Amino acid sequence: MSQMTSPIASRIAGPITNKLTNQAANQAANQAANQAAKQAVAVNQAVNPAGKQAVSVHIITDHIVADEFARPLTLTVIGGVDKDGNADDVDEVEIMRGEIIGIVGPTGSGKSTLIADIEQFAVGDTPSGRKILINGHVPENELRTDPRKKLVAQLSQNMHFLADMSVVEFLKMHAKSRGKDPDLAEKVILLANTLTGEPINPAHQLTILSGGQSRALMTADIAVISDSPIVLIDEIENAGIKKQEALRLLSGEGKIVVVVTHDPMLALMASRRIVMKNGGMTKVISTSEEEQRVFKDIEKVDGWLTGLRETIRQGEVVA
Ligand SMILES: Nc1ncnc2c1ncn2[C@@H]1O[C@H](COP(=O)(O)OP(=O)(O)OP(=O)(O)O)[C@@H](O)[C@H]1O
Ligand SMILES: [Mg+2]
Repeated sequence: MSQMTSPIASRIAGPITNKLTNQAANQAANQAANQAAKQAVAVNQAVNPAGKQAVSVHIITDHIVADEFARPLTLTVIGGVDKDGNADDVDEVEIMRGEIIGIVGPTGSGKSTLIADIEQFAVGDTPSGRKILINGHVPENELRTDPRKKLVAQLSQNMHFLADMSVVEFLKMHAKSRGKDPDLAEKVILLANTLTGEPINPAHQLTILSGGQSRALMTADIAVISDSPIVLIDEIENAGIKKQEALRLLSGEGKIVVVVTHDPMLALMASRRIVMKNGGMTKVISTSEEEQRVFKDIEKVDGWLTGLRETIRQGEVVA
């Protein structure tokens, strides 16, 4: 049976696995989800005819009232305690859709723990005691537990597909299970290939993708097929993909992107960064204009280094 290793991958695999093992039940669920999707799209278009299609369309279901959905998505982290039980210095951080927010801090300072709090939509039930709100409210239990309604996608260093099918078969199946056009598979592959070096061949088995190719494919899949409006990324420094392009792609889709990073370029791409120490959120730094200028310089240097790297990768000589 198809299986994948990462949390997001298993979330994607979940509906597909169900589909294979329990078709009748799943068909009914699919119909219900599609129906909800249509309603959600209708609501969104009514309020935002000129705007982009909502990224959270079919995971927002009918138990969320229309005006709730029409409001822009916000994610709020309500402070808890650090490792010594002292209150977080930061009481509350509200993150808007389309925003990239960084998490920085020394090793062991609690960065992954904060990511995990968001991933689980903590309600004071984790060691940090933090609470997560969506659109200012505690999310319903269903949003925390039902993979179909999950609002969060996660990208991590160690991500490989173990599904026994080709890239294009997997993407088509995933699109269908989400009530979307299977032809989106081609778009995902094209996008993924802008993020990775060696192009992904649609006919290749998923299992032969490299780590970088897998992450590129997953990033493009999150942008195009999975509607998860929140993307959590824990240290992709050595992920083998064009990191800043991946972040731009995801935030450009109107997603909230939370990224743990010490890469100055990624940290300064974020509009703000949460500074962690001893398990606590100590402060939130807004990226200043001066830092934005530094970011532009870093980007130039990075472009130059990327070019050199590519030359060496292609087996050519640096002129
Ligand atoms: N607020 C907290 N309350 C209690 N324990 C915490 C808290 N924050 C972090 N910890 C614990 O501290 C340890 C280190 O945290 P974590 O793994 O999140 O650090 P990190 O910043 O991600 O480190 P690294 O840079 O090495 O990945 C973990 O065992 C975690 O459970
Ligand atoms: Mg960590």
